[in-house]
Amino acid sequence: MANRGMPRRGAVPPMGKMRKGVLKRLLKILFTDYKPLVAAMAVCIVVSAIAGSIAGVFLQNVYAVFGKVVDHTYAASQGWAEILKIIVTMIVIYALGWISSATMGIVSATLTQRFLRDMRNKIFDKMQRLPIRYFDTHAHGDIMSIYTNDIDALRQLVSQSLPQLCSTVITLTTLTVVMVYYSIMLWAIVVIGVIAILFATKKIGGKSAKYFMAQQQAVGKTEGYIEEIINGQKVVKVFCHEERSIEEFNKVNDHLYDVSNKANSFSNILMPIIHNIGNIMYVVIAFVGCGIYIATRNVSVNFGFYGLFNGYGGMFFPLSVSIVVAFLGMARQFANQLGQISNQINSVIMAMAGADRIFSLLDEKPEVDDGYVTLVNADIDENGNIFETDKRTGKWAWKHPHSADGSITYTQLKGEIVLDHVDFGYVENKIVLHDVSIKAEPGQKIAFVGATGAGKTTITNLINRFYDIADGKIRYDGININKIKKGDLRRSLGIVLQDTNLFTGTVMDNIRYGKLDATDEEVYVAAKLANAHDFITRLPDGYNTMLNADGANLSQGQRQLLSIARAAVCNAPVMIMDEATSSIDTRTEQIVQKGTDSLMLGRTVFIIAHRLSTVRNADVIMVLDHGRIIESGNHEQLIARKGKYYQLYTGAFELE
Ligand SMILES: Nc1ncnc2c1ncn2[C@@H]1O[C@H](COP(=O)(O)OP(=O)(O)OP(=O)(O)O)[C@@H](O)[C@H]1O
Ligand SMILES: [Mg+2]
Repeated sequence: MANRGMPRRGAVPPMGKMRKGVLKRLLKILFTDYKPLVAAMAVCIVVSAIAGSIAGVFLQNVYAVFGKVVDHTYAASQGWAEILKIIVTMIVIYALGWISSATMGIVSATLTQRFLRDMRNKIFDKMQRLPIRYFDTHAHGDIMSIYTNDIDALRQLVSQSLPQLCSTVITLTTLTVVMVYYSIMLWAIVVIGVIAILFATKKIGGKSAKYFMAQQQAVGKTEGYIEEIINGQKVVKVFCHEERSIEEFNKVNDHLYDVSNKANSFSNILMPIIHNIGNIMYVVIAFVGCGIYIATRNVSVNFGFYGLFNGYGGMFFPLSVSIVVAFLGMARQFANQLGQISNQINSVIMAMAGADRIFSLLDEKPEVDDGYVTLVNADIDENGNIFETDKRTGKWAWKHPHSADGSITYTQLKGEIVLDHVDFGYVENKIVLHDVSIKAEPGQKIAFVGATGAGKTTITNLINRFYDIADGKIRYDGININKIKKGDLRRSLGIVLQDTNLFTGTVMDNIRYGKLDATDEEVYVAAKLANAHDFITRLPDGYNTMLNADGANLSQGQRQLLSIARAAVCNAPVMIMDEATSSIDTRTEQIVQKGTDSLMLGRTVFIIAHRLSTVRNADVIMVLDHGRIIESGNHEQLIARKGKYYQLYTGAFELE
């Protein structure tokens, strides 16, 4: 019972599986788009890594000179001169090392922040191009967490793990060269150790990668839940669901704990394993090295097979004690460096998981727009020909290029909308609209009435192409709307959506959202038409009053008035008003209706309302039931028909 109604809460999401090539893709972006910065980083890493190791060698030279002075090989003055030389060289090298580290710090900060800024831009850019369907199917908080949590995983990778890994790899390479030079035989043991480490990393790292992937998803789910509860805080309180929401949050949070715990445990096991393989390697090298030394110390270096290799510093056999000792030191350093890599593995895997989520958003199919008919400013000459002009004439035309012969035709924007046997479903095999046919002549007012869920909003969603139809045709001024560029189509529609959404900004900004270049005067006119002017002037700062959090400081009706004004300001030939006056009192509604009547003058208007009084004066009223138009005609005709509308109007019938 606990989960009834909200089954997905607390349910464990499927374990994520990372797609292939994520790291490669990430590196490709870094190495191509940020080449100069990455190159600068590489130089700094190499210089500081080399400076760091060379400086130690010089310190040994100081000891050597010191020793020679002590045993009188050098005179004191000669010793001092030598030491001074070495010290000056060391200072130069340290300074170089310091400069490159400092530069690396700055370059790394710039590279990281620039990379993150660009990634955020890319994500946002992509998000703005996604179809409405994407937002229907993804929790908003989950999308938010891509910007926060997943991006942060990348920050860790670019600013710390990658540079550290690079410098570790440089050190490992240097050590390898020296070790191979000293003894290939002993190096073979190191190779076996490295293979063992790679094997362990693949096995255990693979497991923790799976859980890190799940962790990033779980963070998204958790943030999605928090976002939903913040938005629905009033509903939670009204239904006294505080306890229950805490319980559900605990479940989501426990799942996050569970996968994070596993992810980190696995990767934490990996660290000691790598360390221990390093230690075992060390012991085996000591054992084998000493064994070889003991077994071969009496072998004449100038005799037989071994003698061949004398010139190569004893790469093969025999080994001197000093080589074994030096080798052990290097093997220890090698193992430590491998340990360093294992320290970075967490953050690399986490970043991969984050990058995977980012890439899957970036790879989402954008809203396709293959429309080529555009809306242009136009005028009509004395012969009645339509032509395109730069001047603002207030007249508009559809510019229709024909690829066959390269000609262009212009069709005057009138606002005629025809739906021709349209079928549609949001999801496959679930048809919401059945065979809907509507003809709206320019200047007509078409009303949709029908029960909740009948499909009224859906029809408007199809006209503005939030969704594409499954079957049939929609024509705008005789042009199939699929041929019209989406932006131009939507520009030709003034839309008041069923949900009023306002943005952070002033009242003026919010109305002007309908037409960005509207003058103040145009905004006032639109506000007056929508009957919003009165209440706006009573606000503390009038039109300059700041609205925040979706207009939380306004009443629902006031927000609707603003959204009507916002649609009015764009002065489009077709208006779509979905429940635009549902939260407005009947007296204000009458005033708004007068305003919108004058606004509607000469425009095609689609109006959706539950109050039948609102739609009485429509030219055509369409009665929708379960996605079908069951009756249509004007008020008088429908009343005379004594059908469903009549029953609805007289209260004898309610649509289901
Ligand atoms: N985004 C969506 N994804 C899937 N199904 C949807 C979606 N939006 C609406 N539907 C379904 O489509 C049907 C029609 O919904 P629509 O929003 O058009 O109803 P409506 O007539 O506008 O109702 P109301 O008067 O409540 O606004 C409903 O059965 C609804 O469940
Ligand atoms: Mg609706």
